[in-house]
Amino acid sequence: MTVHIGAAKGEIAETVLLPGDPYRAKWAAETFLKDVRLVNEVRGMLGFTGTWNGHPVTIQGSGMGMPSLSIYVNELIRDYDAKTLIRIGSCGGMQDKVKIRDVILAMTATTTGSPSRGIFKEVNFAPCADWSLLQAAVKAAETHELTPHIGGIYSSDVFYDERPDLNEQMVRHGILGVEMEAAELYTLAARYGCRALAVLTVSDHLGTGEALPSDQRERSFGDMVEIALEAAFA
Ligand code: ADE
Repeated sequence: MTVHIGAAKGEIAETVLLPGDPYRAKWAAETFLKDVRLVNEVRGMLGFTGTWNGHPVTIQGSGMGMPSLSIYVNELIRDYDAKTLIRIGSCGGMQDKVKIRDVILAMTATTTGSPSRGIFKEVNFAPCADWSLLQAAVKAAETHELTPHIGGIYSSDVFYDERPDLNEQMVRHGILGVEMEAAELYTLAARYGCRALAVLTVSDHLGTGEALPSDQRERSFGDMVEIALEAAFA
C-alpha cells in the first residue's frame, strides 16, 4: 500500500495503462482484460489488474493534470515496480490537418509546467516517448486502419487558458495537440529508466471550436486501449 494506492505489492502489473478518468479505467478493464480485479479505490481513483492475451496488465486512473499524474506514476514506479506506462487519453487538436477523433502518438511533450520543472532550473529538458513503444504503436494503429499523427504535443497546466499567444506559438511550431499529463509521464519514465508513451484521441479542436460529445467518445477510446496493449507486448 502507498499513500494513494491501496493495492498490495504484487497486485500491480509491470505494464500499466493510464487513463485520466477512473471510470474509463473500469470500462477498459472490463472490456479488454480477463480475470479483472479491483486493486485500488483510494479517493475513487480506480485501478484494475487483469490479463490481456495472458499478459498481466493494470489500468489505473491518473486524474487530470501533471500534479495528479505525478502522484500515481511516482508510486507505480517506485513502490510497485511498473516498467511500461502508457497514457490513454484525449487532447485538443491544434493543427488544421488534425481532425476530431484522430489518434495522436506523442513523440515529445513540451510544457511550461510539470512537477519536475524545479529540478531542471534553466535547462529545458525535452521529455520524449520510448522509441520501441512508439514504433510498435504506429504498427498497431495501422493494423486498426488508423493513420495516426506522430509528433510533438503540448502538456498544459491550464485547461481554461487565458494566454492565447502561447497556444499560437505552439501551433506555429507544429505542435499537434494539447493535453495535460504526458510531459510529466515522460520525465518520470526517463528518471527511473521506464518506457512511456501517450496515445491520444482528439476530442476537441482549438481552431474550429468543435468538440466530440461524450457519448461518442467510447469508440475512439477503445481504439486507444487496443493500440496501447498491442504496443506494450509487441
Ligand atoms: N484534453 C482534451 N482537450 C483538451 C484541451 N482543449 N486542453 C487541454 N487538455 C485537453
